[in-house]
Amino acid sequence: MSGIVFVGPGRVGTALALAFQQAGYPVLGAVSRPGGSGGATADRFTNLTHLPVRELMDSRSLIEQADVVFLTVPDEAVTELAQTIVNFGWVHEGQIVVHTAGALASSILEAVEPTGAWKLSLHPLQTIADPATGPALLKGSTFTAEGDEPAVAAAMQWVTALGGIPVELRAEEKPRYHAAAVMASNAVVALLGVASDVAGLSTGVSAFLPLLQGALENLRELGIPNALTGPIERGDTATVMKHLSVLKDNPTAHAVYVALGRATVSLAVEKGSLSDAQRDAFERLFGID
Ligand SMILES: NC(=O)c1ccc[n+]([C@@H]2O[C@H](COP(=O)([O-])OP(=O)(O)OC[C@H]3O[C@@H](n4cnc5c(N)ncnc54)[C@H](OP(=O)(O)O)[C@@H]3O)[C@@H](O)[C@H]2O)c1
Repeated sequence: MSGIVFVGPGRVGTALALAFQQAGYPVLGAVSRPGGSGGATADRFTNLTHLPVRELMDSRSLIEQADVVFLTVPDEAVTELAQTIVNFGWVHEGQIVVHTAGALASSILEAVEPTGAWKLSLHPLQTIADPATGPALLKGSTFTAEGDEPAVAAAMQWVTALGGIPVELRAEEKPRYHAAAVMASNAVVALLGVASDVAGLSTGVSAFLPLLQGALENLRELGIPNALTGPIERGDTATVMKHLSVLKDNPTAHAVYVALGRATVSLAVEKGSLSDAQRDAFERLFGID
């Protein structure tokens, strides 16, 4: 491989650049946009990777030289950026052009097709808030790949070298897959926000982190549905009625409790921990048809 270039040295671009560097891949540098958020993210790329960052207009040699071009920019910027680098004549046969958007297929890179380059969508199923800690988080993370066959085959090898778990997806599966990713990550953060608001403890959300950690450990050890505990799993309708009653003054918390209560009843039934009468009682409480 002659090298990898990242257009968009933000959180994911910088984390991936570091991870590829650490795995021994030749990372050539990054490309930033003129007049973006200034040099802040680009500076961070340079600090973390000790590699050059060029502005788009000055990046011809970098992009032409690379055999893998990551477009790690916001989802809505990917298509136009792909078209731009094609219009400049910098994309060529055999190159792999990659985006990392979770919900979008590789087809948003269709501008590269006439050049003979391969299209790839490669999504790290991880939340990257700080590029410096990204490589450690990416180890053990699933990466989903979808696109032209030679590019997907190459991605399988890269991900394995980064310590990740490669999984192939079909284009039509991406929106559903990404909705699931949002539920498993962003929604958990939102849920903890609601929970800490409802409890109103002086220690805030930190009081709930060991509890969440315990639930994660149970999930890791026992899986679904055996990791499930709590009043619904125990068939304790009286406690659940109390909860619903005290949450009436907080419509968001009440709606969240009911929606997740319905899902919890399904899991408790799957686990075999409810009698028919208990299941019927919960279904009435949660308005399940
Ligand atoms: N963060 C995550 O947890 C995560 C996880 C998986 C996948 N992803 C995906 O990874 C991609 C990048 O996300 P991110 O979180 O790394 O974003 P980010 O931190 O905001 O970084 C985006 C980078 O793209 C540049 N950029 C913004 N608009 C641009 C444009 N119109 N043309 C060229 N460059 C532009 C930014 O430069 P400026 O600083 O100048 O704005 C910045 O360097 C997205 O597709 C996202 O869905 C993110």
